[in-house]
Amino acid sequence: MRFLAIALFALLAACSPAKDGGESGQAPAIAPILTREDAEDPWTFARPEEARVSHVALDLDLDFARQLVAGTATLDVVADKGVDTLVLDGNGLAIAGVTDEAGNKLAFTVGEHVDGKGEPITIAIGDARKVVVAYSAKDAPALQWLAPEQTAGGKQPYLFSQGQPTLNRTWIPTQDSPGIRQSWEARITAPKELTVVMSALAQGEPEDAGEGKRAFRFKMDKPVAPYLIAIAAGDIVFRELGPRTGVWTEPAMIDAAASELADTEAMVEAAEKLYGPYRWGRYDVIVLPPSFPYGGMENPTMTFLTPTFIAGDKSLTGLVAHELAHSWSGNLVTNANWADSWLNEGVTSYFENRIVEQIYGPRRAAQEAALSFADMEEAIAENGSDSMVTALHLPPEQADPEGGSSGVIYDKGATFLRTVEKIVGREKFDAWLRNWFDGHAFQPATSGLFLEDMRANLVKGDEDLERQLMLDDWVYKPGLPANSWRPDPAAFAEVDAAATAYARDHAIDTAAWGKWSTAERLRFIAKLPRQLDKGQLGALDKALGLSQSGNNEILFAWLELALANRYQPAVPVAENFLSRIGRAKFVVPLYKEMMAQDGWGEPIARALYARTRGGYHAVTRGGVDAVVR
Ligand code: BES
Ligand code: ZN
Repeated sequence: MRFLAIALFALLAACSPAKDGGESGQAPAIAPILTREDAEDPWTFARPEEARVSHVALDLDLDFARQLVAGTATLDVVADKGVDTLVLDGNGLAIAGVTDEAGNKLAFTVGEHVDGKGEPITIAIGDARKVVVAYSAKDAPALQWLAPEQTAGGKQPYLFSQGQPTLNRTWIPTQDSPGIRQSWEARITAPKELTVVMSALAQGEPEDAGEGKRAFRFKMDKPVAPYLIAIAAGDIVFRELGPRTGVWTEPAMIDAAASELADTEAMVEAAEKLYGPYRWGRYDVIVLPPSFPYGGMENPTMTFLTPTFIAGDKSLTGLVAHELAHSWSGNLVTNANWADSWLNEGVTSYFENRIVEQIYGPRRAAQEAALSFADMEEAIAENGSDSMVTALHLPPEQADPEGGSSGVIYDKGATFLRTVEKIVGREKFDAWLRNWFDGHAFQPATSGLFLEDMRANLVKGDEDLERQLMLDDWVYKPGLPANSWRPDPAAFAEVDAAATAYARDHAIDTAAWGKWSTAERLRFIAKLPRQLDKGQLGALDKALGLSQSGNNEILFAWLELALANRYQPAVPVAENFLSRIGRAKFVVPLYKEMMAQDGWGEPIARALYARTRGGYHAVTRGGVDAVVR
């Protein structure tokens, strides 16, 4: 009976015109765009309301010697009859020519370069609704080409991409806005020693492509925002984690990675129980070389991860829960523009914590939520509680495509949802959030739409509830609304007492530290007095083994504190850390801390950066360049 009902429903859904694809759970053939004022994306040249790309077919060769990708992008275009112009985003692409399907030349112009945005590629398409762009991309900022020495194996080169927010236009000529969705496919050729993966399901086994190369095929049949197209290639191997989960990484890393990631399948199951079916087929992850500029990136079907989350005890796997949660918040329902990044990152940070609660229990979840709340408070204090950068929805003046301060869009975003959850009750809130994902699946969203949906389906005209929630204050105003959820002080009672005791008499409870979780240790370091002398730092380091920590979050927190206090013995440790790791979240603050120390750290930072810069991805380089100058 149940099967029949489902089959009948599927049939009906398939026959009815795909209006939004939301309720049926099926991806729409042609994804809708949002035509409302708060959906406009100032970071694209595209004019999707006139002509938009609905499908991208890439046929590209990876040339490691020249650090070049070259080939064609064939674009399906949706436009009304009579529309004869298509505008794409590009940034530094070398375009050899544009044709229609039959090979007839189409005229095109590449407009003036705008910093941070690239160049418009305007194509006279006439009545063509398929265009073929022949192009190459050399030294594209999205791509990092690693020499064999920069890999764990040391024998083969490596390549990976990072598309979010606006970097994919540096290697793919398409409309690169999160409010536009495209299905896509790719054929990629690479030296036969390498394996290629992408953020889509692989199609069959790789084939011999001659000249010592192999060809790999991929297909993403669901429409996704273009920043989610991603590629990696290297000497990588696969290990299954569960029926639909697995991990790719270099052979030298596979055992450590697989064991750290042992809870991945259970996380997918927990996420589905919370907010509905996982709709992307497989959930694989790739553990990249340490120069990957982020902790993780939610590329569909293939989360990209830094190896720095491997601590040996699964204490940093909240990162995996986070990237997995983006399969709903971000990849399924996507911020229409980067001013609403909190819709991706804040909702995901909330969802992440709910997965952590399911897998690791309420205590760890409460501690991680308390750390996040403290990060938020720090961000608001740093910027000033009347500064608009502390609003969730960023006004145009503040909205850089990176989305602003993570303390705001991640941590204040999560705090907002925790507040609503607390006020309406978990059961009601979960039902609403699940409905939000279902109703807006494969569609873009804005703050305005989110609040409209909440009012229509959660508040439902209850004026008292409306007053209690303070929805507009949370989303559009700076600072922290008065009704905010607050962490239970009990979450860190013991640690906070130990930090207070340390501040009083500098006594270190080594035994307690030995029993603490990673979250507790991070809390203790965060609560230490910000000014410590050489003797005190030396005693802490010796008692707690901070410089030797195999946990990169703890090592980072320690190095920040030590460098801020000009603690010389930490310098070689920091130099080693910054030579090994390119994750911007760690690298940029450490350089910043050194540069702030006139006459001490500044020359150390300059000399070190001269050696390490070449090993960093463009994202990290951009961040450090702004600090070390
Ligand atoms: N989508 C982000 C990474 C990102 C954000 C790339 C903005 C480019 C622009 C990813 O999901 C993320 O949030 N990563 C965090 C993970 C952490 C919050 C658990 C990171 O990299 O640190
Ligand atoms: Zn995220």
